[in-house]
Formats: sequence, C-alpha cells, structure tokens
Amino acid sequence: MIKISKKILETLEAAAKRVSRNAYAPYSRFQVGAALLAEDGEIYVGCNVENASFGLTNCAERSALFTAVADGRGRGDFTALMLYTPGDKCNPPCGACRQVLSEFFRPESLVYSSCDTGEVVAWPMSELLPDAFEFSTP
Ligand code: THU
Repeated sequence: MIKISKKILETLEAAAKRVSRNAYAPYSRFQVGAALLAEDGEIYVGCNVENASFGLTNCAERSALFTAVADGRGRGDFTALMLYTPGDKCNPPCGACRQVLSEFFRPESLVYSSCDTGEVVAWPMSELLPDAFEFSTP
C-alpha cells in the first residue's frame, strides 16, 4: 500500500493550488491545478489551458502528466496526483483524464483532490477507472 507523508501531501496541495493561478480559463473561469508526484519525489505541475474551440481544452492533470513524460518519466513512474479545483467540492478527475492517468499509474497509485474547504479526498487509480481501455493488437 502506498503511504504518503502529511508533509508531502501538504506540499502537493500547495503546489496544485499555486499552479491553478496560471490556468488559462477565460471561458469557464474554472482554474484547476494538478501536482504529480514521481517515485523519486520529484513534483510536476500543470494547469488547464482552454481554447476558443472548446474541445481542444487541456485539463490540469494531463498538462502535468505530459510535462513529466517530456522530462523522461514513463509508465509506473508515479506515486500520486493532487488535484485542486476551486470552490467547496473536491472534484475527481474527468473521464478523459482518468483514462490518460491510468495508462501511466499503477492500480494502487493515489489520486487526491483538494478544494477551498481544506478537505482532501483520495481514491486509488483502480477505483477511479476499474476497466480502463488498453490497446492490444488484434
Ligand atoms: N478541468 C480540468 O482541468 N480537470 C478536470 O478533471 C475537469 C475539468 C478543466 C477543463 C476546463 O478548462 C474547466 O476545468 C471546466 O471544465
């Protein structure tokens, strides 16, 4: 079982909230931040980046993950992700992000969500997306 110290959780929470301020969200005005924890303790952050063509929007979780991959990280290299969404509901990742995260996360990797209540909710990856699509050549 993955155990993350209170200090690291607080660091992730602060990082996710801090990066949400950089979100480009002129359409929804919903600024989201994500902090991704790699196995060796390194943290990658990301925010949502919207577009006038709404479907091209990139969520905070995928922004953080893609930055980590560009830095050389791969499947199984991650311990946890902390999401921050503004308001009083600590939201889980959207369905698209669950599928993308599940490609890189182990089933026991943890997804946390924080918001403005101070509460933090956690789910193992396997609970957020029990039957992820996996590609296998026919
Ligand atoms: N958003 C995220 O960044 N992550 C999620 O998991 C859900 C939604 C963003 C996308 C869009 O810019 C805004 O929140 C409203 O949906």
